[in-house]
Amino acid sequence: MNAKAFEPLFSRQVVAQRIHDLARQISQDYQDLRPVIIGVLKGSFIFLSDLVRQLNIDADIDFTQVSSYGSAKVSSGSCELKKDVSLDIAGRHILIIDDIIDTGLTMVYLREHFQLKCPASVKICCLIDKQIARTRDITIDYSAFTIQDGFVVGYGLDFDEQFRGLPEIYRLTS
Ligand code: PRP
Repeated sequence: MNAKAFEPLFSRQVVAQRIHDLARQISQDYQDLRPVIIGVLKGSFIFLSDLVRQLNIDADIDFTQVSSYGSAKVSSGSCELKKDVSLDIAGRHILIIDDIIDTGLTMVYLREHFQLKCPASVKICCLIDKQIARTRDITIDYSAFTIQDGFVVGYGLDFDEQFRGLPEIYRLTS
């Protein structure tokens, strides 16, 4: 594999502050509602872990997984469910957590999939809202960061399964 060049984008401190702010907002909005927080594997695992530890409300946690980009840098354009949630979400308030929303395809697919299970509400939370590639109309209820373009890695985000463990968020420049 070629050597990769990294440009620092969001530092540990900046990420921690945004997650603190998001957690406070989500705790207020879901007070007494005991939401089901659904992480989209694999990219959301660090973001979700840090976020839920800062919530001061009761929340159940589950995970889902859809087809991945594989080693490509662009979306394949189709989605397939690899893992469904195991909790019964009928009548529950659900909050879907993902690391990045790019074209919006994954989140539109998941929102429709979970709506069929008759939850009380469905909201969406992402670490990074990447707007340039958006092809689907989707309302993002909570996002930590907005970027226009670029391929980002670290803090759960990968390139061909690499770099998820980096503690900060970087833009890949080659
Ligand atoms: C990434 C990311 C989102 C999705 C966003 O997942 O985690 O789930 O792509 O892209 P979209 O808005 O264009 O649909 P990926 O398939 O790379 O799997 P991963 O989470 O395992 O890295």
